[in-house]
Amino acid sequence: MQSVAELAGVSVVRGGATLLDDIDWRVNEGDRWVIIGPNGAGKTTLLQLLSASLHPTRGFVQLLGEYLGAVDVFELRPRIGVASAALADRIPRGEAVGNVVVSAAYAVVGRWNERYDAMDLARAGQLMKQLDIAHLSKRTFGTLSEGERKRVQIARALMTDPELLLMDEPAAGLDLAGRERLVATLGGIAADEEAPAMVLVTHHLEEIPAGMTHALLLKDGRIVSAGDIADVLTAEKLSETFDLPLELTESDGRWSARALT
Ligand SMILES: Nc1ncnc2c1ncn2[C@@H]1O[C@H](COP(=O)(O)OP(=O)(O)O)[C@@H](O)[C@H]1O
Ligand SMILES: [Mg+2]
Repeated sequence: MQSVAELAGVSVVRGGATLLDDIDWRVNEGDRWVIIGPNGAGKTTLLQLLSASLHPTRGFVQLLGEYLGAVDVFELRPRIGVASAALADRIPRGEAVGNVVVSAAYAVVGRWNERYDAMDLARAGQLMKQLDIAHLSKRTFGTLSEGERKRVQIARALMTDPELLLMDEPAAGLDLAGRERLVATLGGIAADEEAPAMVLVTHHLEEIPAGMTHALLLKDGRIVSAGDIADVLTAEKLSETFDLPLELTESDGRWSARALT
């Protein structure tokens, strides 16, 4: 099995604080990982390593067969799709949705004057259909609802046909119906054999789409447990991760957790 990402003895230290501590982890082709942990656990920092936007302080990060530090990250980044709040903040509010999606092929965020070729436009159209945003293509990003913005970001992240798809709390801030629709769409992507390896961050079990294959529990920058989702998502391990006695239920690949009283 080909690895998409491999971390060995990875630590990230910033401003004297250890954000990630001695992480060993491997993501293989076809894997669908969910990273779960409380606020401040280091989830976003871990995704920054996987998106080649941060280098480890110690240890080695291999992405798509290349070692961070020994590769031009500008060649690596188009091979990795990212949907995160930090990236969304950089999308100009006045930009048309169709442009936001297709411009990912040119790895720019901002005003673009590129001439898009027919294949790129066709791919953008197909992704907007898949994410149910085709009808919004002429609207400006700033006029969209939160749920619609998330879909635009995911379409944009898939535009370059990446080998790895990273999503940082894609369902955060959505209402119940919006969350359920997005989780269903993500479940469709997870079930698609052609879709890239996925790593999705959340702190709510209810936001885990059906079809995720692996889970990693993160607490204070350390891995509590990582592996097959059924082995990792247990009441005991989740309680340890969140420092709270929890019980969880699973039904048809969807999870939920509540405090034990
Ligand atoms: N540049 C920085 N310097 C010092 N601490 C930071 C820096 N960036 C983030 N942190 C801290 O690192 C911890 C992990 O952050 P983050 O990866 O964003 O966690 P999560 O996404 O799990 O909520 C948090 O406690 C955060 O305050
Ligand atoms: Mg975060």
